[in-house]
Amino acid sequence: MIISSATDYRKAAKSKLPPFLFHYIDGGSYNEQTLRRNSEDLATIALKQRVLKNMSEIDLSIEIFGEPLNLPIALSPVGLTGMYSKRGEVQAALAAQQKGIPFTMSTVSVCPIEEVTSKLERPMWFQLYVLKDRGFMKNVLERAKESGVSTLVFTVDMPIPGARYRDLHSGMSGPNAAMRRVFQAMRHPDWAFNVGVMGKPHDLGNISTYRGKPTKLEDYIGWLGENFDPSICWKDLEWIRDFWQGPMVIKGILDQQDAKDAVNFGADGIVVSNHGGRQLDGVLSSAKALPYIADAVKGDVKILVDSGIRSGLDVVRMLALGADCAMLGRSYIYALAAQGRTGVENLLDLYEQEMSVAMTLTGANNINQLNHDSLMRI
Ligand SMILES: Cc1cc2nc3c(=O)[nH]c(=O)nc-3n(C[C@H](O)[C@H](O)[C@H](O)COP(=O)(O)O)c2cc1C
Repeated sequence: MIISSATDYRKAAKSKLPPFLFHYIDGGSYNEQTLRRNSEDLATIALKQRVLKNMSEIDLSIEIFGEPLNLPIALSPVGLTGMYSKRGEVQAALAAQQKGIPFTMSTVSVCPIEEVTSKLERPMWFQLYVLKDRGFMKNVLERAKESGVSTLVFTVDMPIPGARYRDLHSGMSGPNAAMRRVFQAMRHPDWAFNVGVMGKPHDLGNISTYRGKPTKLEDYIGWLGENFDPSICWKDLEWIRDFWQGPMVIKGILDQQDAKDAVNFGADGIVVSNHGGRQLDGVLSSAKALPYIADAVKGDVKILVDSGIRSGLDVVRMLALGADCAMLGRSYIYALAAQGRTGVENLLDLYEQEMSVAMTLTGANNINQLNHDSLMRI
């Protein structure tokens, strides 16, 4: 199969993965309206073509939270990454390091923090959910500090998990789920051997290390369900601010007032995100919410954005709409599932090339030159 885009990687991931995993990645909540809006709205953003401006030198690098990045891109946290490819968190983190960008490890990763950081020379970012078990939160933050994690990404749009109907149909959950998953794995022998057998242990690495006993994937939904904390409010985040001295980013902002509250709280960054359309279906796409949030807080806090980005062109669109840095979710996961670390590196090469073309033809020599003037509004 010839692969020339994130769309091709999605197709490749679909044929490689057992359906319960592909649909877990690919799906959104309820009718998946927000999931669709994320990419449809982004596609309607027209860039302004400019010509004859000597574009022989293009600089795609940025600095964020004191870290130099070769591209204005970071990898978003994605739970169970080690189920999509053998020890997937390690492979994705090595690909990000090779391209000079940050990898963000999810709280609910398969590999524990230490397994990944021990293989890296570059510090990674770590994502934390607000959980009832504050002992776990403290434990994992201490381990993140000891492992040299540079930036904490605090996800706040999951006080309760969104319902994802595809999971019931695919065998991720629902009747006879375990048996259906075994049958699916048997029909995907490449995945069954490389990930199912060679990628063990299939644990929630960070949680098992804390509990001192394996937390199996079957426990995943139950553990999360019991542990999300709908009572959380800004005041509860203060102890984290005191505990974590490094940069702190609040992920899951879609509203202007919430963005201002994050600035007042002292956040170093926000991620404009609807969790890739996996939480509240019907909310605005990130592309629609971003300019309105940038109007309120641009310059006061670093603005990161994810949800719907499927090309380097989309990254340029998001930067023109007011973001300082883009984050990739599904697109790098499809590439990881299809080709492991090499797939993620290839995908990032593609994004780099697509960004260079878009910047050459919008007359932007560097990332700072991408702004509202790069957009065509007629
Ligand atoms: C399979 C899957 C698992 C995810 N797990 C997490 C997670 O553990 N923590 C988190 O903050 N966000 C999680 N997200 C959301 C992503 O970080 C990101 O916001 C989203 O994927 C961006 O949208 P995109 O996939 O359209 O790029 C997950 C997304 C997917 C697809």
